[in-house]
Amino acid sequence: MAKALKEHLGGIDSELASLILKISDLASTISSELTYRRGKADTKNVFGELQLIADKWADQFIIDELRKSELVKAVVSEEQPDLVKLNDTGIFNITLDPLDGSSNIESNNLVGTIIGIYKEDLPTQGKRQIAAMYILYGPVTTLVYTAQNGVHEFLHTKEGFVLKEENITLPEPGKLYGIGGLRKDWLPSFRRYIEELELAGYKLRYGGSFVGDFNQILHYGGIFAYPALTTKPNGKLRLLVESNTMSFIVEQAGGASTNGTCSILEVEPEGITQRVPTYIGNKALIEKLEKIL
Ligand code: AHG
Ligand code: MN
Ligand code: MN
Repeated sequence: MAKALKEHLGGIDSELASLILKISDLASTISSELTYRRGKADTKNVFGELQLIADKWADQFIIDELRKSELVKAVVSEEQPDLVKLNDTGIFNITLDPLDGSSNIESNNLVGTIIGIYKEDLPTQGKRQIAAMYILYGPVTTLVYTAQNGVHEFLHTKEGFVLKEENITLPEPGKLYGIGGLRKDWLPSFRRYIEELELAGYKLRYGGSFVGDFNQILHYGGIFAYPALTTKPNGKLRLLVESNTMSFIVEQAGGASTNGTCSILEVEPEGITQRVPTYIGNKALIEKLEKIL
């Protein structure tokens, strides 16, 4: 019998372990509710994006459960305009993308939940995270976490999450690339870089959910980007709730991230809604890209 998540968390701080377990307990409810929480809500989030019923439901559900846990001081969520205060006595601050890739719900492609865990007050640099995790609602539900102890993946079973793979590192050399934004809006230097990867045999895999697209880079190696665009210099992805979390995980898996000039984890946030050009993958690919950009 594969190791249970609970057992695996035995090696880390017990309050952090409780929080990660608490979040993992929400996965089966979220996954099954996606069947029923369909269609558009009549509201927009702070980024001006039309919210789905599922986005709003998952946001409220996760925030309510975190409040009940009494472990969490405050949450920054993609679906909330301001910092949400939960418990004054809470120990952790959380960044949350309740449903990443929710435009994939209609077509039944990958969506997931992305969570960054901090002790410092938010907003702060991504490198201040103490743990990061995501849950992917795919053909099977998986959970990936790091508590600065390597990157580990778990499979959802009738007995809860059990270990699938421990100490994951990005395979070298990578095989895949997946890039968001219209190709015509990419910067010329970035386009040339991608053309070189194509000539070297890298295959395009782009699914439209950061969590799913990143998960395949974690398993097959390569690069994911939602780059700086001529039309949107900061790209699309959100520094706090999306890019920092995945950057923390990729660095723990031996990879790297950049905003074009430095690691995304070094970026000093000016607010909770900041976007950041996001390039993430094998270290050698990111180093080469930084030189070109
Ligand atoms: P969300 O569904 O949380 O708003 O995030 C969507 C993001 C991200 O998941 C993905 O990489 C990107 O938007 C896809 O954008 P395009 O539809 O422009 O490809
Ligand atoms: Mn998202
Ligand atoms: Mn989202």
